[in-house]
Amino acid sequence: MTTALEQRLRSREAAVGVIGLGYVGLPLAVSFAEVGFSVVGFDVSDLAVNGLNAGRSHIDDISSERVASLISRRAFRATNDVTDLRACDAIFICVPTPFDKLKTPDLSYVEAATRTVAKVLRAEMLVILQSTTYPGTTTEFVRPILEEGGLVAVGGLSARCTELAAVLLESLMEDASLVRRVESPEVAEMAKLLENTYRAVNIALVNELAQLCYEMEIDVWNVIAAAGTKPFGFQAFYPGIGPGGHCIPVDPFYLAWKAREFNFQTRFIELAADINDDMASYAVQRIQALLNARSVSLRGAKILCLGAAFKRGVSDVRNSRAIHVMELLRASGAAVSYCDPHVPSICLAGETLTSLSVDAVATTDADLVAVLVGGEWPLTQLAARSIAVFDAVNAGGQPASLRERL
Ligand SMILES: NC(=O)c1ccc[n+]([C@@H]2O[C@H](COP(=O)([O-])OP(=O)(O)OC[C@H]3O[C@@H](n4cnc5c(N)ncnc54)[C@H](O)[C@@H]3O)[C@@H](O)[C@H]2O)c1
Repeated sequence: MTTALEQRLRSREAAVGVIGLGYVGLPLAVSFAEVGFSVVGFDVSDLAVNGLNAGRSHIDDISSERVASLISRRAFRATNDVTDLRACDAIFICVPTPFDKLKTPDLSYVEAATRTVAKVLRAEMLVILQSTTYPGTTTEFVRPILEEGGLVAVGGLSARCTELAAVLLESLMEDASLVRRVESPEVAEMAKLLENTYRAVNIALVNELAQLCYEMEIDVWNVIAAAGTKPFGFQAFYPGIGPGGHCIPVDPFYLAWKAREFNFQTRFIELAADINDDMASYAVQRIQALLNARSVSLRGAKILCLGAAFKRGVSDVRNSRAIHVMELLRASGAAVSYCDPHVPSICLAGETLTSLSVDAVATTDADLVAVLVGGEWPLTQLAARSIAVFDAVNAGGQPASLRERL
């Protein structure tokens, strides 16, 4: 039987609320608004709310033009007033899920967002926890808070609500069959963690192999390319200074924490994190050796680092390993400068550094240039001027002979 809510979701007459307008929430809100839903985005950041309502995006993937167009058509608006969520038929929770110093999950944002939903909750409202978290969060943590007011949640938790969520998400897909229904929130939560953990473990494996290959004087990049010729069973991962960002270094620890409740140790997760975390120090050792070979000591050396974001082409510096490498270099007495066209400034040991322009890289007087993140870097000119280049990412388009690769 099709209910009024399902009808509203299918016809896109439903109002969608998104709590948390960051890297995940804003693209989600914009996508729903662009396919015809009326969308309200709720965020505790006045800066984000005011900027969005003035047509300014603060997220790389979403242009200000897209936001401005939706705002002017009243298809989307941002708010920090909880009561604006009251009319929503469906609400997504997209708030951060960090961990603390002991790598214990910090669900305070999820709790605050859930309490926000609880204030406007009514029967026939679909609530979807979009934040990445450990299996059981929806059932054990979010559900009891929502039910404190006396309403009983049946969602995701029941076939009907899974169906409603799928109907809503299918409206964002050209191919509706790409939306997969699973039998419980725990399966969905665990699937996301499996995917992130899979990447963390495979990146660690190739990082370890890169170190061995260096000792054995084997080119790891050629090894990966050759292994990739196998038509099945192999997926290429590449070495580097370790994965940063909000997901890979964080999410597996949500699982490791939850596993302890079952007296279970997730050894792969911890080993992978150890190896990946060590890659920044390993890169510094290799930089030091390269300088040494030129009779330059790391202390006092001028080092220009290329890339500051956690990956190529973004401005996001959360858990940036490039910044960590810069911190280690500076702690060893090097004079560090950097270039990242997406990151105008960074804070290094309490000091603000501003990015050099890409053009300035070609004429640098640094003792060594360290490529920490992929990008269009002018390495050829550096080699012509005999500047040492340490390349942690196998920057494309340049002969390998121009640089020492990880
Ligand atoms: N960044 C990614 O690519 C990515 C991918 C998949 C999943 N995730 C997961 O999605 C979740 C959100 O990540 P993100 O990268 O979008 O975070 P983010 O930090 O970019 O954005 C979070 C937003 O939530 C807001 N916020 C915090 N507490 C709030 C509250 N109580 N009420 C309303 N707004 C609140 C913040 O002001 C911020 O604007 C995390 O669980 C993350 O692991 C992120």
